Amino acid sequence: TDSTKIQLGDGADKKGTRVRVLGRVHRERRQKDITFVTLKDGYGFMQVLFQGNLAKTYDILTLTRETSMEILGELKEVPAGAKAPHNRELHADYFSIPEEWKAAGGEEAITNRVSKDQDPSVLLDLRHLALRGEERSKVLIVRDAVEYAFNTVYHELRLRKMSPPAFVQTQVEGGATLFKLPYYNEEAYLTQSSQLYLETCLPSMGDVYCIEKSFRAEKSLTRRHLAEYTHIEAELDFITFDDLLDHLEQVMCRVLEITLADPIIKQYVADLNPDFQMPERPFKRMKYADAIDWLVEHQIENEETQQPHKFGDDIAEAAERRMTDIINRPIFLTHFPFEIKAFYMPKDVEDPRVTESVDCLMPGVGEIVGGSMRMHNYDDLMAAFAREGIDPAPYYWYTDQRKYGSSPHGGYGLGLERFLAWLCKQHTVRDCCLYPRYFTRCKP
Ligand code: 4AD
Ligand code: MG
Repeated sequence: TDSTKIQLGDGADKKGTRVRVLGRVHRERRQKDITFVTLKDGYGFMQVLFQGNLAKTYDILTLTRETSMEILGELKEVPAGAKAPHNRELHADYFSIPEEWKAAGGEEAITNRVSKDQDPSVLLDLRHLALRGEERSKVLIVRDAVEYAFNTVYHELRLRKMSPPAFVQTQVEGGATLFKLPYYNEEAYLTQSSQLYLETCLPSMGDVYCIEKSFRAEKSLTRRHLAEYTHIEAELDFITFDDLLDHLEQVMCRVLEITLADPIIKQYVADLNPDFQMPERPFKRMKYADAIDWLVEHQIENEETQQPHKFGDDIAEAAERRMTDIINRPIFLTHFPFEIKAFYMPKDVEDPRVTESVDCLMPGVGEIVGGSMRMHNYDDLMAAFAREGIDPAPYYWYTDQRKYGSSPHGGYGLGLERFLAWLCKQHTVRDCCLYPRYFTRCKP
């Protein structure tokens, strides 16, 4: 009889009909004369029932996880209590497993190689197999939806997507984390941020954004630092610092709204992060100086000096995380001191000790966004280069912006993996990208 090929998440309207599915064995469970198989295909899961003669065939009796198969049968409604995905079950009447579709079993079985109690570094070496697990794949499927939502939101707000270069000869966030490499007969770096290039787009392309890789030669192993990460950056023209904060809040909330409008994604987020709640607007806004007072009041010391925090200190990862965990909602931390911030950040006119800068902090992760207004006065920028000991010559294309129709503008960069670590409640950003690159790891 006739049968339609369906993906495993589909077929809500196909109950009671004969369908054809293709996928891999996610789980199998044998009872006396029946074998239940949960099949997966990246779009969903389906419970399949093999009974009668089919259940007695050699291939079903020796079925291993990850084996690929084709199955035909009738799709039957089952009660919600039966825990079958989408309350339906496929009653197989035919299946086929070409010899090369079979997955290795025994010692070599995938379940042995990537079991939960396997050493973490082995799991990272075997990431190509670990990715087949439910949790890891859900994070990456949510990631796709989030990236798509950012593209949608930016286009709603009339930002245009640009694609700045990865090979560069200038730094943005300090020389210490630059990856240097030979570039024909010159030296180049892998980009740390596309910010400076986005700034050059404003005069003729309007507000712009990009979703590109950024590279940082971080020399420490932390939960939230990668050597290669996906950086979502935007740059907005003729704005004030308050406009920047409002935009950022709007983008993040709208991204969540769009992402969670998809019922499958919403379910995956709920599976990964059962406590997830939409952030309340407006986000809490806190000046750096007040954060220092807060840390002192809560007796959270500066890790490096082992002293109470004082104005001018960097707020390190651990202190930052404790603060966000206690406050337990998104925080816009603003007005960082001049000395601890990047060269391009302008001073606040009301308090010249600090800059018009913002970090967005999320519970469980800490900083997920760094942004600021940009110095748009030529002389201020040149003085900033001098102060930082940076030779301005390679930045001629950046400083020229200040010569030909400058404007008050600002922007930010959001680390996609950190955003996901927050949304999907992942312990580390390493599980929020396909094949993580970080200090000492460059495989697989
Ligand atoms: O705070 P950062 O260094 O700011 C910039 O690069 C600005 N130029 C961005 C801009 O204004 N266009 O980095 C921005 C964000 C951080 O908040 C963090 O989420 C992420 O990028 N990030 C990293 N993510 C993973 N691994 C790393 N090593 C990261 N370094 C920064
Ligand atoms: Mg930062």
